[in-house]
Amino acid sequence: MNRTHHNNELNKSNVGQKVSLVGWVAKRRNFGAMVFIDLRDRNGITQIVIDETLTDSVKEIRNEYLLEVSGEVLLRKDANPKLASGEIEVKASKVIIINSAELTPMIIADETDALEDTRLKYRYLDLRRPMMQKRLIQRAKIVQTMRNCLDDAGFIDIETPMLTKSTPEGSREYLVPSRVHAGQFYALAQSPQIFKQMLMVAGFERYYQVARCFRDEDLRADRQLDFTQVDIEASFLNEVEFRAVIEDMVSTVMDKVLGLKLQLPLMTMSYADAMHFYGSDKPDLRFGLKLQELKQIFNQSTFAVFQNALSFKDGVIKAIVFEKGSVMTRKETDELTEVAKKNGSKGLVVLKYQNNALEGSVVKFMSPEEISGLCEVLSLKEGDLILITADKYEKACNALGAVRLALRDKFDLAKKDDFKYLWVVDFPLFEYNEEEDRYVAKHHPFTRPKEDELHLLKSDPASVHACAYDLVLNGFEVAGGSMRIYDQNVQKMMFEIIGFTKEQIESRFGFFIDAFQYGTPPHGGIAFGLDRFAMVLTQSDSIRDVIAFPKNASARCPLTDAPTPVDAKQLDELHLAIK
Ligand code: AMO
Ligand code: AMP
Repeated sequence: MNRTHHNNELNKSNVGQKVSLVGWVAKRRNFGAMVFIDLRDRNGITQIVIDETLTDSVKEIRNEYLLEVSGEVLLRKDANPKLASGEIEVKASKVIIINSAELTPMIIADETDALEDTRLKYRYLDLRRPMMQKRLIQRAKIVQTMRNCLDDAGFIDIETPMLTKSTPEGSREYLVPSRVHAGQFYALAQSPQIFKQMLMVAGFERYYQVARCFRDEDLRADRQLDFTQVDIEASFLNEVEFRAVIEDMVSTVMDKVLGLKLQLPLMTMSYADAMHFYGSDKPDLRFGLKLQELKQIFNQSTFAVFQNALSFKDGVIKAIVFEKGSVMTRKETDELTEVAKKNGSKGLVVLKYQNNALEGSVVKFMSPEEISGLCEVLSLKEGDLILITADKYEKACNALGAVRLALRDKFDLAKKDDFKYLWVVDFPLFEYNEEEDRYVAKHHPFTRPKEDELHLLKSDPASVHACAYDLVLNGFEVAGGSMRIYDQNVQKMMFEIIGFTKEQIESRFGFFIDAFQYGTPPHGGIAFGLDRFAMVLTQSDSIRDVIAFPKNASARCPLTDAPTPVDAKQLDELHLAIK
């Protein structure tokens, strides 16, 4: 090919030059005997003008034909300011059809009404859309910048196995049957966690890896079954020092990829405050609507819902005030109630402050003192909408936090090009799993407890906090990590508290505990969810938009049709039978 330029490169300064371009036909229009073609490659679009009489084959050219075009650069009369090459056009003197194309099942343009499954089935065409190319190119730039920062800071890129041992403490794993060892299984790595800690024991000091991870989870807009972590671990740094290294990297990414200057240090908020004020462990700080506490006003309430909530040890009554929200219709507020219910609340109290009075079906259960207390505590103004959940702490907070996000989405309260970072810290070390009637590690069982709370580990595990931190961006947890336990006895105690017997510890994590006997350095780390990070930075709505070949919402790949049944012979080899 004699290509001289890409399709974004030509401008006024090239007028008069002879050039040669390659690209797909994005659009073809006829003006009399003149054919106008938008020629597209991954860099952009150039307008080509061809005289239909140039060669016979010009008539054949359709959308998505692949062409090589040679000709002269001319100044365009009507420049297109939206295109990098919008000032010029190329008058073709030679056109070679490199390949023809069938009529495509979807239009190849940023605006598309194709269903997502169609887009995924013909992903190679979907990925021709300039917007998709831009996203994947930006993703590559993000990961390249992260790599460069980590290399510069002395982190060493080391690979760890994907086929590993099943350690069922975390999300559900994918199992891989062994052909050689009948009845035995590998698990696909959920993360390189155990291996990166052993690399610290091995003395590598600073490690990173762009690692594929596998989790058999229910899919959401920000989750995939196989996803990518930028996984990082360091020895001999305390939490403050380590987070500073990460902040520098994030700030470089913002600068190099988006041209934005980030103010460091990033904001920090405790898990307790995040739940208390935002009803979420990953608050979106781009807008207000903070949760407020009403317990003190309603401690004598005659309203059964409030009474019930306050009968719990950790019962709360939480409210948000949405300014000018009283214009919302019954149907709209009913939708908010549905959101609250979907997120664990039994309902949502909806009140409006109009004509200097409180309105709503629950007002009849309120005494004049309660009403005036409510108006005062919430500083109510004309037109306010008041939304209240009452329940156990987590339930009430989570549900109202979800309502807060529903208001954000409905009323466009947050801008996508506004990037608000936040460290969430001071997580509880454990959470209680009611189903299994035991404590489980909130982050993972290798997370170090706060030094000054160690003495409570046995007597009051629920009160102990973890040296763990999540990096939150616009309401998404883009990274999570912790300082690790490096004392064998503390590690054993952790396992005991989450209910592992000596035998279970030995069979599941014996190799790990063994490694810790040989001079383990203090260490800690973090893992970025690269897909999520790229999703937010490219302002995409779904993680699938920054992954070349993702699974759809029902965990299938419409392109290859995976998962599919397999031959009896394959099953036989693996010593498996389908139930
Ligand atoms: P964690 O489980 O929090 O921590 O994962 C780290 C980050 O990975 C991203 N993530 C996902 N992204 C897409 N799809 C998924 N299914 C998915 N699950 C998680 C999130 C999350 O913040 N080993 C620890 C890290 C450490 O302690 O160093 C770990 O895996 O953005
Ligand atoms: P009920 O007494 O169940 O008819 O509920 C009366 C009102 O209180 C309805 O508007 C419910 O949506 C609301 N409600 C019920 N449970 C809760 C709760 N836990 N928190 C807030 N509002 C609730």
